[in-house]
Amino acid sequence: MTATIAAENLTVAYDDFLALDNVSIDVAPGESFGLVGESGSGKSTLLRAIAGLAPVIGGKILLDGKTLGAQYRDKAFYRRVQMVFQDPYGSLHPRQTVDRLLQEPLAIHGVEDAEHRILRALDEVGLGSSFRFRYSHQLSGGQRQRIAIARALIIEPQIMLLDEPTSALDASVQAEVLNLLEQVRRDRRLTYIMVSHDLGVVTHMCERLVVMKSGKVVERLSSGDLVAGRISESYTKNLMIASKGFVRKAAFA
Ligand SMILES: Nc1ncnc2c1ncn2[C@@H]1O[C@H](COP(=O)(O)OP(=O)(O)OP(=O)(O)O)[C@@H](O)[C@H]1O
Ligand SMILES: [Mg+2]
Repeated sequence: MTATIAAENLTVAYDDFLALDNVSIDVAPGESFGLVGESGSGKSTLLRAIAGLAPVIGGKILLDGKTLGAQYRDKAFYRRVQMVFQDPYGSLHPRQTVDRLLQEPLAIHGVEDAEHRILRALDEVGLGSSFRFRYSHQLSGGQRQRIAIARALIIEPQIMLLDEPTSALDASVQAEVLNLLEQVRRDRRLTYIMVSHDLGVVTHMCERLVVMKSGKVVERLSSGDLVAGRISESYTKNLMIASKGFVRKAAFA
């Protein structure tokens, strides 16, 4: 089966610094694929490279088996592939209403039926129509991240690149947003690449994952491997220890 998204020997450099060094992944249609690793290991860089937002100096990125250019992405690409960024405060303009934030992607992609889509998107992320005319600075972190997700979903992409979509949220809100993402993926048969530093989150959300360190892939695992403790690298074991939720779950398993 052709991978929906693949990276082959992808290398990204900022001046002389290799932020990604020969990284390869392949993500099957409808799969949820995880990227884990310590801070600075290159997780966001990999998502940004796929989105055409990082200086690729080697290797390639394929969408449905077709090679994409190093940087430029056309509108058709963003219609299919949407990204939710790590920081919901930085990614939403504070002085815009929710309505305006949701109109924008529809206008960019020339999608009609805005009224219906906005109401449906708000409903889908569990925020009713009463949120429509609030300013984003009037929203909590969790509400803001739901709007960021609604903004990505509203044009009906097939692939979502999710960069720590819940790391800024407290545990109970985090679980709600993760459940929401999982529900949407099932309903719409979406493909996800999801970054998290929390192995518990990835075990719950992803079928397969890569563990990254210093711009390289150090281990490839399935979520079953993680649950069963089939891990070879001590680096991965340390990440597990750092993910308290995972350790708790594993201890009760
Ligand atoms: N625009 C940039 N210019 C120079 N260096 C950069 C740039 N963006 C990222 N880097 C460097 O590339 C490396 C990988 O960064 P990246 O953001 O991919 O890490 P990450 O795994 O997402 O970390 P975190 O978990 O903290 O988000 C880091 O050392 C970072 O400092
Ligand atoms: Mg990051």
